[in-house]
Amino acid sequence: MQFVMDCLTVNENGNLSMAGCDLTEVARQFGTPAYVMDEMQIRQNCRTYRKSIEEYYDGNGLVLYASKAFSCKAIYRMMQEEGMGIDVVSGGELYTALQAGFPAEKIYFHGNNKTEAELTLALEYGVGRFVVDNRYELDMLNRIAGEMGKIAKILFRIKPGIDAHTHSFIQTGQIDSKFGVALETGEAEEIIGYAAKLSSVEVVGIHCHIGSQIFELEPFQMAAKVMLKLMATVKDAFGLELKELNLGGGFGIKYVKEDMPIDYDRYMEAVSQVVHQECARLGMNLPFIVIEPGRSIVASAGLTLYTVGCVKEIPNVRTYVSVDGGMADNPRHIMYGAEYEAVLPRNPLGEPEMTVTVAGKCCESGDILIRDIALPKVEPGDLLAMLATGAYHYSMASNYNRIPRPPVVMLKDGKASLAVRRERYEDLLNCDL
Ligand code: LLP
Repeated sequence: MQFVMDCLTVNENGNLSMAGCDLTEVARQFGTPAYVMDEMQIRQNCRTYRKSIEEYYDGNGLVLYASKAFSCKAIYRMMQEEGMGIDVVSGGELYTALQAGFPAEKIYFHGNNKTEAELTLALEYGVGRFVVDNRYELDMLNRIAGEMGKIAKILFRIKPGIDAHTHSFIQTGQIDSKFGVALETGEAEEIIGYAAKLSSVEVVGIHCHIGSQIFELEPFQMAAKVMLKLMATVKDAFGLELKELNLGGGFGIKYVKEDMPIDYDRYMEAVSQVVHQECARLGMNLPFIVIEPGRSIVASAGLTLYTVGCVKEIPNVRTYVSVDGGMADNPRHIMYGAEYEAVLPRNPLGEPEMTVTVAGKCCESGDILIRDIALPKVEPGDLLAMLATGAYHYSMASNYNRIPRPPVVMLKDGKASLAVRRERYEDLLNCDL
């Protein structure tokens, strides 16, 4: 593979191309900065996950797209067409999905501090599942559902005690998380027993999410095992058979050459094996399995196009290449030290000639996008494509420095169209009184 994104090629003019569109043309048509996405790549990723459930688990499950990764009306419409469910974590994501016509019953509502207004909205629209985080939320949900004469179907968010980012899968420490209820203290079992007696909620399952950008299979298998054990315990203790096991998302993607993600269908293959084994051992029925990929659905289907402005060479120190975006459209380097690859769309395979640091235009020294990347000669006016920015970029963008947010351009079959238009200066005043 030439690039960290499978959907990129070089066209007959030697320019970087995606979905049959020359990216220098896309930049000319829509301006920069711009998020650009390959629609078929997104759809293909959904199909891979869905097929893996068909193939390895007899179709007894559902793939949810974790829409915090990238949320706008176009993506919810696409997810509906692809037969996906979705995970939302706020009233805003829920509202956007509903406005896009997404069926409420295939929405899972997450979040560690849902408000009364959010729960009410979700109940009004008949959201399929609430992933309940804590006792406070449980009581509130039970009360509101009761007042509305509804029964809310719930899963509990469990801290399974598995830290996927340590190779030893440390079993403690995870208690110190703001999400969910703990297993090892008995809190999880207790809250399930309590909820089983409430009149306006129905406990249908349990959920866990062990981290993000994970490259190993084993933590997912471990999590499945631990969660099934809890299901067996609940059955013994309360005679309650939980039907749904939601194993969250977290499947890694390739940002830089060194990243080695696992083929997405292998997650289901590996998890299915463990689930079959454990259910046989524990004498349980196979649960309905839900997974929630976010990043791996959209990240590698998107890039950001920037225009280079000033190139500042500080002799014997470094060369700063400043672009027309920055931490407002991509806060991931400043937040997580995230690393990226970038290419010049007019010369995507050119030999590196200079090592530069790509900086944004925000009034902040930390506004860096890539530190020390080797590129062909870069000049003011050049286009720069930062790769694998389809997840957690548009959705994490801000108006810092009153910079309007870039548009999202969707590419398909050689055609480019807007999914989200560029913000205008007057949009920035929308809420100002
Ligand atoms: N389900 C739950 C309950 C989650 O909390 C998340 C992500 C997902 C699913 C989707 O995980 P994914 O497949 O995307 O890894 N802003 C960070 C990522 C935060 C992830 C939060 N939760 C970033 O830019 O890397």
